Amino acid sequence: MPPALKALLAQLAGGLLAFGAARAGLLPVGLWPLIVVQAVGAASAAIALRSAPWWRGIHLGFAPLVAGALQLGIAPGWYLAAFVAFALVYWSSFRTQVPLFLSNPQTAEAVAGLLPDDYPARLLDLGSGTGSLLRPLARLRPDCRCEGIEAAPAPYLLSRLLSRRQPNIYLARGDFWQLPWTDYDVVYAFLSPVPMPEVWRKASAELRPGSLLVSNSFPVEGVTPDAVIDVPDRRRTRLYLYHPAGPAPTPHRRP
Ligand SMILES: C[S@@+](CC[C@H](N)C(=O)[O-])C[C@H]1O[C@@H](n2cnc3c(N)ncnc32)[C@H](O)[C@@H]1O
Repeated sequence: MPPALKALLAQLAGGLLAFGAARAGLLPVGLWPLIVVQAVGAASAAIALRSAPWWRGIHLGFAPLVAGALQLGIAPGWYLAAFVAFALVYWSSFRTQVPLFLSNPQTAEAVAGLLPDDYPARLLDLGSGTGSLLRPLARLRPDCRCEGIEAAPAPYLLSRLLSRRQPNIYLARGDFWQLPWTDYDVVYAFLSPVPMPEVWRKASAELRPGSLLVSNSFPVEGVTPDAVIDVPDRRRTRLYLYHPAGPAPTPHRRP
């Protein structure tokens, strides 16, 4: 069951529990006993539904925060504005389970070192966010074509704006599952554990022998990487390198 649906069910279960307890006369009069029972009920339902552990805290805090915020008398337009802002940044994260977080310049430097030196390589960043990987990479390797595809409108627009003076960056807005990966020498993924099995399947089916899949932080479960790079940064980034279609048959040159 998708996590967002589990969250909705847990909230409804908490609401039903609170409503039932109030109807049965089990709760003291007032709003806060209802809120507490709803929150504890929702968190318990999340445990029963085997939601990830952080959902417990979210469910415990949700109804109390809503009740507290309502008492502040904030105009509804602000909630709408916050919702629209978050939607533009996170877009389909609730479905893809890939939130926005950014590669750092040290990682871009490590990836630049993986690009072949003997021809102008083509790299694709799956979900290019604000272009945090592509911008330093394109500066380090002006001979290479650095491409990115991003689903969320706000990071995409920001990446277009920030990279407008870098002619070797090519950005598109869309879904990377719909794009053929056939023509790329390197495909870079900084996503989450959830899509990695599907990334592996698509990369194995579409990449050419010799093409490289680089996954930042999230290995492909059950597949031994060809190499692992420890990036010397504060978050101890690890890059997992794979050749999903095997090595290049001869010294690899683009036609
Ligand atoms: C963790 S961020 C990485 C951003 C960037 N690649 C970087 O390294 O700085 C992952 C991005 O992938 C995007 N994303 C997730 N699924 C996507 C899809 N199917 N098509 C396009 N973008 C997607 C998300 O919107 C998010 O911005």
